[in-house]
Amino acid sequence: MNLKLLVLLLVLPFMASEAHFNISTVYIKVQTGITNGHKFFSNIGRSLSSAKESFNNLRKEGNFFGVLKQKAQDNALQALQEICSADTNREAREVLEVDRFNFVLMTPCQNHTYSLGDPQNFWTSSAFDRKKKTVILVTGWLTKANNGQLPILECISDAYLCRNDVNFVFLDTAFYMVTFYDWAALNTVKIGTDVGKRISALKNIIPSNSIHIVGHSLGAHIAGVAARTYTERTGEKIGRITGLDPAQPCFNKGGSLKGVAKGDAQYVDIIHTNPGVLGLMESIGDSDFYPNGLNPIPKGCHSSVCAHGRAWEYYAESVYPGNEGSFLSTKCSSDESFQAKDCSGNQIPMGFAEKSLDTIGNYYLDVNEVAPFGRDHNYKEMSCATC
Ligand SMILES: *[C@@H]1O[C@H](CO)[C@@H](O)[C@H](O)[C@H]1NC(C)=O
Ligand SMILES: *[C@@H]1O[C@H](CO)[C@@H](O)[C@H](O)[C@H]1NC(C)=O
Repeated sequence: MNLKLLVLLLVLPFMASEAHFNISTVYIKVQTGITNGHKFFSNIGRSLSSAKESFNNLRKEGNFFGVLKQKAQDNALQALQEICSADTNREAREVLEVDRFNFVLMTPCQNHTYSLGDPQNFWTSSAFDRKKKTVILVTGWLTKANNGQLPILECISDAYLCRNDVNFVFLDTAFYMVTFYDWAALNTVKIGTDVGKRISALKNIIPSNSIHIVGHSLGAHIAGVAARTYTERTGEKIGRITGLDPAQPCFNKGGSLKGVAKGDAQYVDIIHTNPGVLGLMESIGDSDFYPNGLNPIPKGCHSSVCAHGRAWEYYAESVYPGNEGSFLSTKCSSDESFQAKDCSGNQIPMGFAEKSLDTIGNYYLDVNEVAPFGRDHNYKEMSCATC
C-alpha cells in the first residue's frame, strides 16, 4: 500500500469526530502532531506513555504516533508540499487579529509582555535599553509544544540572556502559527507586514543597523517581510536577518510567495539544515551555511523534523559567550568543490558572530552529531548573567 494513503487511513478515524476537519486539512493535522512529537521521535528510548504526557491536547494523534514510522513521517511532509504547491494563490482564510500577538522582552529577571497593537509603550519602556542591540526572535510554524513550552525559545533565550548584552525580544504569535501550514504560509505576508509596521516605530529610538531579526522556518520569511516593510516605511534597512532553515513548503521556486532573501536587511545570513525538504536548499542570503552539505538529514538526526530544528540548536550554541567561533565554516568557490565537500576559501564562523559584506558566499562545515555541535568548541568555563 502507498505510504501516503496509509497515513491518511490511520489518521482519519481519529479525525472523524472533529467535524471542522476535512481531508485537505488532515495532512496538516498529522504534521502538527508530528512536530509536537519531535521530542518523542528524537528520543526513541522514551516510552509512548511519557510521550503522550507531553501531547495532552493531541491525545488522539498520540495513539497514532505509536504506530507511525519514520518513513510515513517524511511522506506526510511530501504530501504537505504537494498541497501547498497546488494552491498557493488562495486567499488567507481567516482575518488575523494581530493585536493578539505579543512582543515579549525577556530579561534574566522578568518578562515584559506588550501587545503588538501597542508598540510605542514597549520601545519606550524602561526595560528596553536603547544602548543595546535588539534581537527579535520569530519562530515558525508549529514550534509550540503542547505543554506550552517552546524549545526553540528556551534554547535561544537562555543563550542570549546568558550574554545579557542585547534587548532580547520574542514575537509570540500564539496559536496562529500552530494551525495548518499552508494557511500559516499564506499569512506570513500579513503577519510580517504588521510586525514590520510595529518595528518601524523603533526608527526614532535606536539605529536601524542595531536591529537583528532571527527567524526559524516560516519565521524566517516573516522576518523578510517585516524587514522589507520597515524599509518601505523608514527608507532604511535593519542591520541583519538570520534565517534558521527557512521553510521550503509554499516557498518553492516559482511559488507566489516571496521568501526571505539578501537585500531584505543590510546583511542576511542563512543556516540550512534540512535542505530540500522542510528547508530551502537554494542559497538566498548574503552568506549561506550548509552544515553537513546538501544532505538533508545530519548525523544524529533520523527525521526531517529533527534536521529542521538543528538550525536553531546550532545557532543557540553559537550565542553563548566564548562559543562565537565554534562553527568555523569554509567558503566554497564552486558547486563542484561544494559537492565534494572540498572547500578551501576563507573561513568565518556560522551563527551569532557578526558578519561583513566581504564574507558573502556559500559555506560548508562539519558538525558533531550531538551537542556541543560546534567542532571548534571553546570549552572555557561559561559565566552567565544572573537575576
Ligand atoms: C476544507 O477546509 C478548508 C478550510 O477550512 C475549506 O476552505 C475547504 O473549502 C474545505 N473543503 C471541503 C471539501 O470541505
Ligand atoms: C519568561 O518566559 C519564558 C518563556 O515562557 C520562561 O521560560 C521564563 O522562565 C520567563 N522568565 C521569567 C524571569 O519569568
